[in-house]
Amino acid sequence: MSQPFILEVQDLKKDFFLYHLNKEIKGIDQISFQVKERDFLGIVGPSGSGKSTIIKCIYGAYKPTSGHIYYQSSDFGRVDLAQEDERLMMALRRGEIGYVSQFLDIMPRVTSFDLVLHELLNLGLDRQEAQDKAAESLKHFGIAEGLWYQYPRTFSGGEKLRLNLARTLVKQPRLLLLDEPTASLDQASKEKVRESIIQLKVMGTTMIGIFHDLEFMEGLITDCYHMRGKEE
Ligand SMILES: Nc1ncnc2c1ncn2[C@@H]1O[C@H](COP(=O)(O)OP(=O)(O)OP(=O)(O)O)[C@@H](O)[C@H]1O
Ligand SMILES: [Mg+2]
Repeated sequence: MSQPFILEVQDLKKDFFLYHLNKEIKGIDQISFQVKERDFLGIVGPSGSGKSTIIKCIYGAYKPTSGHIYYQSSDFGRVDLAQEDERLMMALRRGEIGYVSQFLDIMPRVTSFDLVLHELLNLGLDRQEAQDKAAESLKHFGIAEGLWYQYPRTFSGGEKLRLNLARTLVKQPRLLLLDEPTASLDQASKEKVRESIIQLKVMGTTMIGIFHDLEFMEGLITDCYHMRGKEE
């Protein structure tokens, strides 16, 4: 029996309007693909072709101009993420959909340990279990214990990225969106990310990932979506 689709993107389009320039910018157009449960779709394409925009539309950070993003939720059934309201999106982000962004500018005034801990408490784990898991995840991603009770604002780029991975992957989301999660990492840290991705795959997480380094994706992805470059 073939696996059901967890995500169906149909004819997705996103334009941006720059009010200060009174100008429209094309983000993405005619994007369609499907992802089966437990699969790992890689998205490749030139810089500026719209890879991050697709991921942000799925996560609800961008509202698509048109098209559909059907997601098979475990809690809410089949929903169209292109149409959904912020409350449902927030519930999905808390419980089902994880996102590791390409850039990490905004960091809340919460210590790194609490950042990971809160994600687990939100999932309903009891405090002791959540504390143990948070510590385990921070260690796995090489966040030194001296940094656990500091605000991540002052962390290096790689530390921020590893913290973001630690807090997102620890939740074992049903659907994980990865936007170049290894871009600023050294080889050892990249290997840790790879290890975690393999673990998540075994546990049944479906993933969509953008990776600059195609070698890194080898043996991980089950399918690949190629973006066209921008025609000017
Ligand atoms: N918030 C925004 N406002 C205006 N334009 C945007 C916005 N986000 C993306 N764009 C534009 O949409 C296009 C696609 O951007 P996107 O970030 O998705 O590309 P990408 O494929 O992820 O590129 P890269 O490989 O460099 O990360 C670009 O032309 C970009 O300038
Ligand atoms: Mg991008």
